[in-house]
Amino acid sequence: MTKPTIIVAPDPRLKQRAMPVARVDGEIRQLMDGMLDAMYAANGVGLAAPQVGVLKRIIVVDTSQPEEAPEPHRMVNPEIVWTSDDSIRREEGCLSLPEHYAEVTRPERIRVRYLDAENEIRELEAGGLLARCVQHEIDHLEGTLFVDHISSLKRNIILRKLTKTKRMAPVPA
Ligand code: NI
Repeated sequence: MTKPTIIVAPDPRLKQRAMPVARVDGEIRQLMDGMLDAMYAANGVGLAAPQVGVLKRIIVVDTSQPEEAPEPHRMVNPEIVWTSDDSIRREEGCLSLPEHYAEVTRPERIRVRYLDAENEIRELEAGGLLARCVQHEIDHLEGTLFVDHISSLKRNIILRKLTKTKRMAPVPA
């Protein structure tokens, strides 16, 4: 498939709940590979299927450092099954809200259960950037953006700026 285009907010497609995937097959694997291509091309660390206009519960994440080997995670129907009591506040961005950042508080560690690319159930315990990124991407599957975690005042400023930028952007060829 051609590399999917990442949708920029505000867009009603980013506000919908994504549907579970019945089975991970070749089509889903291809979609995940396309999502990873789009994510790496945009220098992102995570991407959710609704961000490319597919309302399915699929996320891809790679929080490895540029000098490290890539470590792509492909997660279908991801579900957080445990969170630490400790929370941490850190700056977040999103490929659907380019060039905007805000501090968001989230649990520091999580355990996530998902189907991998072979349709096998897996669990991963994560902390740090990986934990934050997985939580951010799962939010997308609920139609939640990181700006939904901050004050409506700050959120509206960001969304208004994005609307203005979109109006000025040339129509993609
Ligand atoms: Ni995002």
